[in-house]
Amino acid sequence: MKILVTGGTGYIGSHTTLALLEAGFEVVVLDNLCNSSDAALHAVEAICGKSALMIHGDVCDRPLLDRIFQQHSIDAVLHFAGLKAVGESVRKPLEYYESNVCGSITLCQAMAAAGVFRLVFSSSATVYGAPEQMPIREDFPTGTPTNPYGQSKLIIENVLRDLCAAEPKWSIALLRYFNPIGAHASGHMGEDPSGIPNNLVPYISQVAVGSLHELSIFGDDYPTVDGTGVRDYIHVVDLADGHLKALQSISTRSGINVWNLGTGDGYSVLQVVRAFEQASGRSVPYRVMPRRSGDVAECWADSSKAQKELGWKATRSLQEMMTDTWRWQSNHPRGYQG
Ligand code: NAD
Ligand code: WQD
Repeated sequence: MKILVTGGTGYIGSHTTLALLEAGFEVVVLDNLCNSSDAALHAVEAICGKSALMIHGDVCDRPLLDRIFQQHSIDAVLHFAGLKAVGESVRKPLEYYESNVCGSITLCQAMAAAGVFRLVFSSSATVYGAPEQMPIREDFPTGTPTNPYGQSKLIIENVLRDLCAAEPKWSIALLRYFNPIGAHASGHMGEDPSGIPNNLVPYISQVAVGSLHELSIFGDDYPTVDGTGVRDYIHVVDLADGHLKALQSISTRSGINVWNLGTGDGYSVLQVVRAFEQASGRSVPYRVMPRRSGDVAECWADSSKAQKELGWKATRSLQEMMTDTWRWQSNHPRGYQG
């Protein structure tokens, strides 16, 4: 089977490309490299001895998409391409809606024209907003995301839902990721954020390696175990496996299916800092700062639906996530550049 992976040189897309190649799929990657480099695909090849075909281009480019579908017999699409920085989305809403929403619509139009109706979409737990109850199940109502990034994910989910209602040939998985972290166990693939990281774990690991001075902890007065925010951190390799299971599952289903991809466990910021210090043997200096606007106190998944319907469960512990992050960060202090 041949799979088109949009955003396949990015953090989650590259780990999933590796998992696909290892499982015997052929892979065509489409990426405009706006937040990644093709070095990730060189690492994939070095690890598994197989390579994906890389096409440099934009998911909004309909003629290019048409050419890809004409030249390759694509069976299904994993759609990771998009912009993901929450703060930047507030400053540049049009770029976010264009890349995320227009890109997804253009992709679906090209897929329909080519007769390809299987799609796995990278959604996010952000679509739930701030539920009152934990853990979060897929049947909880979606909330009102507080930023254009989150809005774009919710809009795309609704577009895909309407598409499935209008045309029964479609089979679409909406995968709502919780907090993906970690790196491939080889230490040669991982997250490589450009500029100063927005997310907790990349920030911590850059403090540990000496690139950043200290961590700011955004609030220690939440109603949580120690006052700091609680999240469901999931290993990126477990997440990649979830995509293979979803791909398999949508081949025998039709319509829209939603699955949470999380571990079902929540950890606080301080618990993550401690686990990282233990894994790395380095201390992570921090300072408590005011809460970050838009943050919820806690967020973790009920992942039993994915377990029951996909036969998927995350298996890697927080300690493993920290160890793998540190192996990647210490081997490659400047990411794929060195
Ligand atoms: P990433 O930035 O590492 O990967 C996204 C890739 O898409 C990059 O390689 C980028 O160059 C490419 N891209 C962006 N816009 C494009 C366009 N218009 N055309 C072609 N390529 C384009 O991000 P990631 O962490 O791997 O996230 C992958 C997907 O998962 C994204 O859709 C993101 O919104 C979603 N997601 C991520 C997280 C997270 O915390 N990392 C959580 C939930 C959902
Ligand atoms: C985790 C915890 C922070 C940084 C974001 C997006 C979400 C999804 C995943 C894409 C929180 C605290 C963080 C720091 C800190 N992305 N923190 N100091 O906010 O749960 O989710 O990424 O879909 O949409 O919103 O992840 O890693 O930024 O924060 O104290 O420097 O760490 O307050 O409690 P978040 P995060």
